[in-house]
Amino acid sequence: MSRSGKVTVVGAGFYGSTTALRLAEYDIFETVVLTDILEGKPEGLALDMNQSRSIEGFETKIVGATTTAEGAGYEATANSEVVVITAGLPRKPGMSRMDLIGVNAGIVRSVAENIAKHSPNAVIIVVSNPLDEMTALTQLATSFPKNRVMGQAGMLDTARFTNFVAEELKVPVSSVKTLTLGSHGDTMVPVPSRCTVNGKPLTELLDSAKIESLVDRTRNGGAEVVALLKTGSAYYAPSAAAARMAKAVKEDSGEVMPVCAWVDGEYGINGVYLGVEAEIGKSGVRKVVESALTAGEVEALKAAAEAVRAKQADVKDL
Ligand code: 2OP
Repeated sequence: MSRSGKVTVVGAGFYGSTTALRLAEYDIFETVVLTDILEGKPEGLALDMNQSRSIEGFETKIVGATTTAEGAGYEATANSEVVVITAGLPRKPGMSRMDLIGVNAGIVRSVAENIAKHSPNAVIIVVSNPLDEMTALTQLATSFPKNRVMGQAGMLDTARFTNFVAEELKVPVSSVKTLTLGSHGDTMVPVPSRCTVNGKPLTELLDSAKIESLVDRTRNGGAEVVALLKTGSAYYAPSAAAARMAKAVKEDSGEVMPVCAWVDGEYGINGVYLGVEAEIGKSGVRKVVESALTAGEVEALKAAAEAVRAKQADVKDL
């Protein structure tokens, strides 16, 4: 197997470290760099992960690097092809993602500036919350072309929706296709009209009240996990989603995935980062893919765009 290049994961919490390990296990990068401001933590995790290589059968080397907000340690990340930003605080029970905006904006801005300095050609995948706003802030802080900055949310929300539908109908997850668009928050737009089970429309298999309850559970999928964990938020499904996006970039696969991307004209929506389907490749978002939605779903998407637009305008001052 040929492997090459470097991917950096910023933040060695559960989300970041799980993402780093998944990326290493793909065995497609020469190096996975894991960074954190907690001295020794990324180095320790990297050492541990490297010791799993002979058991799991991958050669990718994981490098841990302690960094500071002032930029020390970022040399280890230099010339990354892809950077996943997980830095920032997770929610506590009862908090909304938006409650994190003040504290996480400062952290994400400084990370984004340091990454831009050392990896000016990288594609950045943001996962810090509130997602849509932190993605917009990263683009502002890096001045990267908008296609090279995207956020991870739709893959995760879609995977949650898929899991709930599969459990409800007692079918394999592989037979279920779902879609969620919009924001990674209250204005998330799960799209029942695009959901199928073995090719059959979901609307023919479940009544509308049941679909609505699954939609609602999907919208609150992150909070449900936070409430159970009590400290920290979800990371297994989120890291799977982020790692798949980074893989699609690395392999220039052209896969169409639901991601937080810059929307300028699609669905009649202009100038905002929003959850939509997009073709992912080496350049980041190759293009936003417009799909057939019902009039109601387009309206919900437009409402989501307006809700995040106002907040995204505020991030430049944070
Ligand atoms: C979630 O929904 C972490 O925002 C992420 O679980």
